[in-house]
Amino acid sequence: MDKAEELKNLEAEMAADNMLPLRESNLVFGEGSPDSKVMFIGEAPGFNEDREKRPFVGRAGQLLRKNLREMGWKENDVYITNIVKRRPPENRDPLPNEIAAYQPYLEKQIKIINPKIIAALGRFSMNYFLPEAKISRDQGKVFRFKNFLLVPIYHPAAALRSTEVLGEMQKSMKQLPKILEKADEFLAQSRPEQPEKKEQTVQKKLF
Ligand code: URA
Repeated sequence: MDKAEELKNLEAEMAADNMLPLRESNLVFGEGSPDSKVMFIGEAPGFNEDREKRPFVGRAGQLLRKNLREMGWKENDVYITNIVKRRPPENRDPLPNEIAAYQPYLEKQIKIINPKIIAALGRFSMNYFLPEAKISRDQGKVFRFKNFLLVPIYHPAAALRSTEVLGEMQKSMKQLPKILEKADEFLAQSRPEQPEKKEQTVQKKLF
């Protein structure tokens, strides 16, 4: 079975799972290349995402996609998804039980795609992987996480509200092609010595 087929099966499994919360909203599974080396993971779908059943298609999504194009990456060459795959009512923050309910599916999705880099967009996505991290302190840094590099980046919705945040988000995104170029090297160098440690900082600032 190829990756695209595995993802289709996973999506069907999610759609049929009556135990998942937020079932009054549409399933927004994710999109992009199943062979992508880079996954962008946001928080949860909003109004437009729910309507179109596609991640990051509203104002914040357009900003993300514009930045991808400016980096010379095609939207379809990366994979874009969220931690929680259905819209919380009124776009409220996802609750811990909702994040936990969607976790097994996100883990399978990551395992199928097997990216070299996960760009965690915003606080919720970053704290899913790194509970102690702080977005203003840690965004733009590169962490070793299991068998991929984790790069927390400001959420594009926050960048729409502040030119300072926008500048930081753009700076961090522009580092991604260079990080990808060196990903194999970083991953080989930083093989965790203590496997029980969940993550390990590779380097505070790579460039
Ligand atoms: N914000 C997110 O975190 N995800 C989306 O898909 C859209 C907006």
